[in-house]
Amino acid sequence: MTRRTAYAGALVIAAALTLTGCGDADSGPSGPELSVGSAYMPQPVSDSMAAGFLVVANESDDEDGLSSVTSDIAGEVTLHKTTGQSMERVDELGIPAHGELVLESGGNHLMFEKLKRKPKEGEKVSLELHFTKSEPIKIEMPVKSATYRPTASTKSSAKSSSTAHH
Ligand code: CU
Repeated sequence: MTRRTAYAGALVIAAALTLTGCGDADSGPSGPELSVGSAYMPQPVSDSMAAGFLVVANESDDEDGLSSVTSDIAGEVTLHKTTGQSMERVDELGIPAHGELVLESGGNHLMFEKLKRKPKEGEKVSLELHFTKSEPIKIEMPVKSATYRPTASTKSSAKSSSTAHH
C-alpha cells in the first residue's frame, strides 16, 4: 500500500519537471536571415549617376526592409521604385518573409548619385546595405558593361548543362 503511493508521487514530480523544461524552448534568438546575390552595376554613361541592381533573399519567417545604402564612390545612394514608365524615390523597399527583394533593370533599383569617380567595367564598387531589422551587410558590386543584362535562366541552365553533355 505505502509503496504504491510513493510511486504515484514520483510520477507527478517527473511530469512537472518535463513541463518546466519545455518552457525554455522558444527563447532562442530569431530574426530575418538575409543573403545578397546577383549584384551588378552597368558601367554608367553619366559622370554623376549610376544605377545598381541586386537581389536580397530572406530565409526566415520575419519580414524586413532595405532602408538605406551607402557607398564610398557616391555622395548619396537612393532607393528607387519603378511604376510603369516613371520612377520615384522611396524610403524603404520591403523584403517579404521567405521571399526576395529584387532590384533589376526596368524595375526597382539603387541610384548612386553625386559620384566621386566614374566606375569602369571590371571594377568593383563596395557598398553597405542597411536594413530595418537585420544587421548591415557589406558587398562588392561588380561593374559590368553599359549594356549588360543578366539572363534570368543563368542559374538553372548552368546546372542542367553540366549533366546534359554526358
Ligand atoms: Cu532611378
